[in-house]
Amino acid sequence: MIVDERVSCYIKSLTAYNSDFLEKLREKALEAKVPIIKRETESFLKTFLLLKKPKRILEVGAAVAYSSLVMAETLEGNVKISTIENYEKRVLEARKNIKDSHYSNIIHLIEEDASKVLKELVEKEEKYDFIFMDAAKGQYINWLEPVIKLLNKEGVLCSDNVLQGGDIVQSRYIIERRDRSIHSRLREYLYELTHREELSTTILSLGDGVALTVLKK
Ligand SMILES: C[S@@+](CC[C@H](N)C(=O)[O-])C[C@H]1O[C@@H](n2cnc3c(N)ncnc32)[C@H](O)[C@@H]1O
Repeated sequence: MIVDERVSCYIKSLTAYNSDFLEKLREKALEAKVPIIKRETESFLKTFLLLKKPKRILEVGAAVAYSSLVMAETLEGNVKISTIENYEKRVLEARKNIKDSHYSNIIHLIEEDASKVLKELVEKEEKYDFIFMDAAKGQYINWLEPVIKLLNKEGVLCSDNVLQGGDIVQSRYIIERRDRSIHSRLREYLYELTHREELSTTILSLGDGVALTVLKK
């Protein structure tokens, strides 16, 4: 939790809900401890997508397809979404959730490891207006080059969990060993996002931390 808990709860209480289908899916995912997008991040994403109106979206990290269905519903189906997931158990659920929704014709689930898929998409010269990065945090830095190549000019990259709920600024001595390397890789990622000439990035203390990056013209 980055923002004071009471403020965060208050903001969440004002959040507009989704369709019953999506709210049930959200509840089920949370019960099963699937790490889906935080409510406040979801709210931000929805407003931002309505402003940006992307035609093609790529998501890295589908889980059970909750966030891709939120994006599809927000844009009323006027978008094509490709979403990547490699964890078999979640792939099966994502496949079913997409099939049961109104958006099976616009969401394409890519059931493979993101490193491989990103490389292939670059080779095919695919381009996206919006990329939602929400998978293994330690890999973000490795995926940055392909992701930049996949963005259209003035396209937007939205990276979730970049502050690890605020833990990224903690002293390395009070962080568990396994998280230390994730944190240093995330810091490296944030440095690249904020210092590269071709990018413009703002980091928001929203949810677990969100970086919003525009590929300049
Ligand atoms: C935070 S969850 C995604 C949540 C989803 N975006 C949502 O909000 O509904 C991250 C997902 O990324 C997947 N993932 C992690 N590393 C991956 C990789 N290398 N390739 C494909 N998927 C990966 C995990 O299995 C997990 O389901």
